[in-house]
Amino acid sequence: MSKALEGVRILDMTHVQSGPTCTQLLAWFGADVIKVERAGFGDATRGQLRDVPDADSLYFTMLNHNKRSITLDTKNLEGKKIFERLIRMCDVLVENFAPGAIDRMGFPWAKIQELNPRLIYASIKGFGKGPYQDCKVYENVAQCTGGSASTTGFDDGPPTVTGAQIGDSGTGLHLAIGILAALFHREQTGLGQRVECAMQDAVMNLCRVKFRDQQRLDHGPLMEYPQHPNGTFGSSVPRSGNASGGGQPGWAVRTAPGGPDDYVYVIIQPPSWAHLMRVIGREELIDDPEWATPQARLPKLDRCFGMIEEWTMTKTKFEVMATLNPLNVPCGPILSIEELISEPSLVDTNTVVEVDHPERGPYKSIGNPIKLSASPAIVERSPLLGEHTDEILSSVLGYDAQEIEEFRKAGAI
Ligand SMILES: CC(C)(COP(=O)(O)OP(=O)(O)OC[C@H]1O[C@@H](n2cnc3c(N)ncnc32)[C@H](O)[C@@H]1OP(=O)(O)O)[C@@H](O)C(=O)NCCC(=O)NCCS
Repeated sequence: MSKALEGVRILDMTHVQSGPTCTQLLAWFGADVIKVERAGFGDATRGQLRDVPDADSLYFTMLNHNKRSITLDTKNLEGKKIFERLIRMCDVLVENFAPGAIDRMGFPWAKIQELNPRLIYASIKGFGKGPYQDCKVYENVAQCTGGSASTTGFDDGPPTVTGAQIGDSGTGLHLAIGILAALFHREQTGLGQRVECAMQDAVMNLCRVKFRDQQRLDHGPLMEYPQHPNGTFGSSVPRSGNASGGGQPGWAVRTAPGGPDDYVYVIIQPPSWAHLMRVIGREELIDDPEWATPQARLPKLDRCFGMIEEWTMTKTKFEVMATLNPLNVPCGPILSIEELISEPSLVDTNTVVEVDHPERGPYKSIGNPIKLSASPAIVERSPLLGEHTDEILSSVLGYDAQEIEEFRKAGAI
């Protein structure tokens, strides 16, 4: 089996979550990812949210699979020489430092281009050019400034952030796509380019349907939202609870035995209306003009899902799934993280993997969700801090043992 990105070398200056998810994906596709970490410190996440004393945290290990780690002080005079050589030897530099940090290290884009015109320089920042361009940003700030928080949650509750890390991992995915496009472009032109993705922009892209709804508001109420017809709409898209974001109404209804995750999401697709009514014992509504068409149902979706819930509450979420799926009713149980992490079919597809680590022992991780038939990803453990420093300095950069010793004495590595 050949690796899709075999031969591509990534200079990985990323830290925390957004950047590391991007380079981890490229590593799973087969790129040689060299993670540069500050000598003596490393990526801050190594020590954050620790569950095992003195071992790299799951926060770090689950975001940095399949990489090599070199420690390097890029502000040290000798360290700058190593950094320059790395820039010359790599195909892509990825970073998500605070705005201006790479420039302050003495490596603005113009200098990087001069050192290696073929290098693709990819960055994540919180914001694009504008009033907030110099601000530092973390996940939830991006969710809040990108339209997600204001549209998530229930009408009578506060803006709510989602558990899906759309600001960090979402932006990492966007950046990876940009890097692959730039690599393809380089094949044709021989030249690198800058790839930039702002977290606010990535979240907005993922909230695209809410920008659709903002403009629909000019033409009347959003009839699939729970605010219709009993509530009110203001001038901006409101929080829509569990309403479907698409053209077919849906809602999360309760199931037995009534635990916190005992819910199933049911979608009412017009062709399955008759099946759904028959199974819940309401055959009389199948052809009733008050209920039979999507238009007739829109103003009373709450009552519709109320009737369905009366039935689902007599079943477990898995029984509902088993009954409705053969009837072509789109639905899905609300699965807890505990249920997902031990689901055998997800282990079979390597979406949930077990990885061994010298400091912490075996742990579960999420593998590459993108499956390539000729280049399947094999998930390897994250590197220890500086584990590959000597190896990279000698085999990639060509320094001999004495030079490496001198770098060490100078505090560069
Ligand atoms: C995430 C973030 C808020 C963290 O902030 P932070 O912990 O203060 O880290 P910074 O990026 O400011 O970097 C800290 C310093 O370490 C320095 N540093 C990092 N690696 C280094 C190395 N190998 N050698 C020497 N110095 C290094 C940086 O140059 C910077 O110094 P400076 O402030 O003097 O320029 C910030 O990096 C950021 O906003 N990034 C962009 C958006 C983003 O990706 N956010 C999501 C994170 S999940």
